[in-house]
Amino acid sequence: MKITVVGAGAVGATCADNIARKELATELVLLDIKEGFAEGKAQDMMQTAALLGFDTRISGSTNDYSKTANSDVVVITSGLPRKPGMTREELIGTNAGIVKGVCENILKHSPNTIIIVISNPMDTMTYLALQSTGLPKNRIIGMGGTLDSARFKYQLSTTLNCSPSDLNALVVGGHGDTTMIPLIKHATWNSIPVTQFLDEAQQQTIINDTMVGGATLTKLLGTSAWYAPGAAGAALVESIVRDEKKLFTCCVSLEGEYGQSDICLGVPVVIGKNGWEKIVAMDLSADEQAAFNKSADAVRNMNDVLKTL
Ligand code: 2OP
Repeated sequence: MKITVVGAGAVGATCADNIARKELATELVLLDIKEGFAEGKAQDMMQTAALLGFDTRISGSTNDYSKTANSDVVVITSGLPRKPGMTREELIGTNAGIVKGVCENILKHSPNTIIIVISNPMDTMTYLALQSTGLPKNRIIGMGGTLDSARFKYQLSTTLNCSPSDLNALVVGGHGDTTMIPLIKHATWNSIPVTQFLDEAQQQTIINDTMVGGATLTKLLGTSAWYAPGAAGAALVESIVRDEKKLFTCCVSLEGEYGQSDICLGVPVVIGKNGWEKIVAMDLSADEQAAFNKSADAVRNMNDVLKTL
């Protein structure tokens, strides 16, 4: 198994670190445009192998895509991160050109790969990756909902004082501060609806805090977060390479599912060796469906910006 992570910044390096620690690949390539940066990070990570006990061979490359040849999975983290006060959407001008170039280069050397998109604005970058690679739709996966659902579980767990891994909770829709939809009415604590333990005000606070989860960290850190985004990327890689068939919310191409078409948006999907293998249908209430449609409109407006670049 060979995996490439494009972009050796904080998110890419954290994702690679998780992939190595879990031994998801025999070969892991870290690529960056900054001279020597990916090589340095790769060497540093390799020097943890004897301490952590993994056998993945990690190498770095300065923009030489031939080193990524025949990758089974490629994770794209390239592009600028958000600064405090910025929305993910403001990054489109810079990041669209970067992500398009990365996709073209990846495809030259790994024509059958599965691509996981982390770069922002993630929904539009996933749509761009689908369009610019022409890969079958099941091979293009946007990571956003996986991260947002993990953040939702974190918020729920702190209020309920329970283990985050005992929770089932999904965030669907876009990966934007106003476009994501934490589905609190469907969330359970080991099968018990969480709404049984939370009044309306508590529910609303959890929803709000989840939606601005990334922005809150950007304010605290001065740049966007990396531990959870990197771990979310690696969790998807794991479900692919181990063919786990786990259910995550991911941004995928919709062709009528959830009432939407010609868009990539976050819905529950099964992730396995073929990429996203199935979209899982959920019964959304009229309010939830209306929020999903509104989220789709916002993402579609963002996608339209691609035509003007
Ligand atoms: C976040 O929400 C990087 O978009 C990512 O932290």
